[in-house]
Amino acid sequence: MVGTQWGDEGKGKVTDYLSAQADVVVRYQGGNNAGHTVVVGDREYRMRLVPSGVFHGKTCVIGNGVVLDPAVLAQELDYLAERGVSTERVYVSGAAHIILPYHIRLDELDEQRRGGGRLGTARRGIGPAYADKAARVGIRVGEYVNPVLFARRLRENLEEKNRLLGAVYGAEGFDFHAMLAEYGGYARRLAPMVRDTSLLINQAIDRGEKVLFEGAQGTLLDLDHGTYPYVTSSHPVAGGACIGAGVGPTRIRRVLGVVKAYTTRVGDGPMPTELLGAEGDWIRERGHEYGTVTGRPRRCGWLDLVVVKYAARVSGITDLAVTRLDTLAGLPRVRICTAYRVGKEVLTTFPADLACLGAVEPVYEELPGWELDREPRALADLPAAARRYLEHIEEGVGLPLTLVSLGRERGQTIGLADLFGKEPGR
Ligand code: IMP
Repeated sequence: MVGTQWGDEGKGKVTDYLSAQADVVVRYQGGNNAGHTVVVGDREYRMRLVPSGVFHGKTCVIGNGVVLDPAVLAQELDYLAERGVSTERVYVSGAAHIILPYHIRLDELDEQRRGGGRLGTARRGIGPAYADKAARVGIRVGEYVNPVLFARRLRENLEEKNRLLGAVYGAEGFDFHAMLAEYGGYARRLAPMVRDTSLLINQAIDRGEKVLFEGAQGTLLDLDHGTYPYVTSSHPVAGGACIGAGVGPTRIRRVLGVVKAYTTRVGDGPMPTELLGAEGDWIRERGHEYGTVTGRPRRCGWLDLVVVKYAARVSGITDLAVTRLDTLAGLPRVRICTAYRVGKEVLTTFPADLACLGAVEPVYEELPGWELDREPRALADLPAAARRYLEHIEEGVGLPLTLVSLGRERGQTIGLADLFGKEPGR
């Protein structure tokens, strides 16, 4: 399951729905920059790391592609324990990298240094942790849970990071002993959860179990395929699941692209369909479009099918899930962007040259709006205009719709097909 836009497509809700049918739920990238809200009955859970399969008692995996903040994981384990949710079957890859306080500090300082050109990161240390991974100096979970190795690696890293903090940013460094003591504590909690998760997942597939790979963020935030440099430092696209979980591409049968009925973006960078006036504010308030992690107001705009088609291409999406159709209810008319105009040219594919993206004018189709006065249980219960909107998405992207979400609750979902079945579509 992947996000087809800039994240916040409502993937948490969709994962929760699909987790009920899955045996194993896997996160393969990102870290606690992600946040999803799961509503179970009258309870609302806000999760950042642990896959929401935990609420269904399923095996949950934090894969090697994730960057894990041990302090946040410890908090999340406490949070779940206090609410009586068992975390006995949550496993963490020994090859995942850990986020330490200097990563968070460097994320903040780097954003300050960029000034007006800032990326608008979640300031959770994600970029610096992935940078260390690529530079081959990061600390992996497997080393972290070994007290001798962790002490050695922390000392090496801290010497270098403290020099960097002082010499380049004029900032104070961190104390080795204090960090070792605090993080050593989290490591003891993490140790029993560590597994060879690639082996675990592949064995589950061999046994015919259903495995759901849950992407965080969205396609347009992918390090390679997103709107670089305004991206995250991991791979939210479907291919990221192979690398970030240790499974081959031939083992993935279906790719569900989650499409929010409109577009949002949090953080900086181009967004062609952004609505800066009252309509954007209306969507933000109606949809409570404020970040789960940072509380930042999200930029809101009309649905951009050029973006969704691009996501379908780079992830090989087979099925679509449309979320938040309820949020748009009440508008007299809605718009869908189907192409971009640049000067005299009309683009129907997403531009490879990102400098161009900031200059495009969206080409819109206008459709009548709808009201939702009763709880729809099937597509047929939806007003004709809402169905037309969904058909427009299916036709525009050229992929079958297999799920529609109409609210935060589990029950407010119209499932149109078995997503773990062999054939795409309904
Ligand atoms: P980072 O991932 O914190 O480094 O932030 C990089 C960019 O990704 C910023 O524009 C963030 O706002 C955005 N971003 C990171 N995580 C999420 C998410 O879960 N939802 C939406 N945007 C995100």
